Amino acid sequence: MFKPLNILDEKNKTLRKKSKDVEFPLSKKDKDTIDQIIKHLTYSQIEKYAEKYNLRPGMGLAFPQLGMLKRIIVIVYEYEDGKFKNYVIVNPKIISHSEEKVALETGEGCLSVNREVEGHVPRYARVTITGYDPDGEKITIRAREDLSVAFQHEVDHLDGILFFDRIDKKKPFYNENEIRLI
Ligand code: NI
Repeated sequence: MFKPLNILDEKNKTLRKKSKDVEFPLSKKDKDTIDQIIKHLTYSQIEKYAEKYNLRPGMGLAFPQLGMLKRIIVIVYEYEDGKFKNYVIVNPKIISHSEEKVALETGEGCLSVNREVEGHVPRYARVTITGYDPDGEKITIRAREDLSVAFQHEVDHLDGILFFDRIDKKKPFYNENEIRLI
């Protein structure tokens, strides 16, 4: 039986705390939580299930959004219609990034932010992330464009940062000459 996750809302102060590195081996609870997140995010992106379970579509989630201050992020990326790739990174670190920045043209969303927030969030166009898979194997991932944005968004959660913190309050929108909109 599928049960939607209880995701903390932005008003919850836990979301503003810094998460701690996780030690291996992962606990059974952590592994189960990872599986639940993958299922939730996958279902949320499939219309039939999103409707059935009343899920807001989302491609990423970080452990602190469930009230657990652990450095684990999960991304379920639809790389082709109906085809998903899962990324689970424990103790992720962005070790390098492009000079170039991009922003999602329609702005970012977050499963912890239940309102529309207008504005462009500047992000690196490409990032390289290292970390560990759930079995403790070292991994390196290179991401670009929207996937790069997603990784930066999720890593921010581990440091208590929400996407709208990065929107310039005085000038929330960029034009194409200032930043590449994707
Ligand atoms: Ni988020």
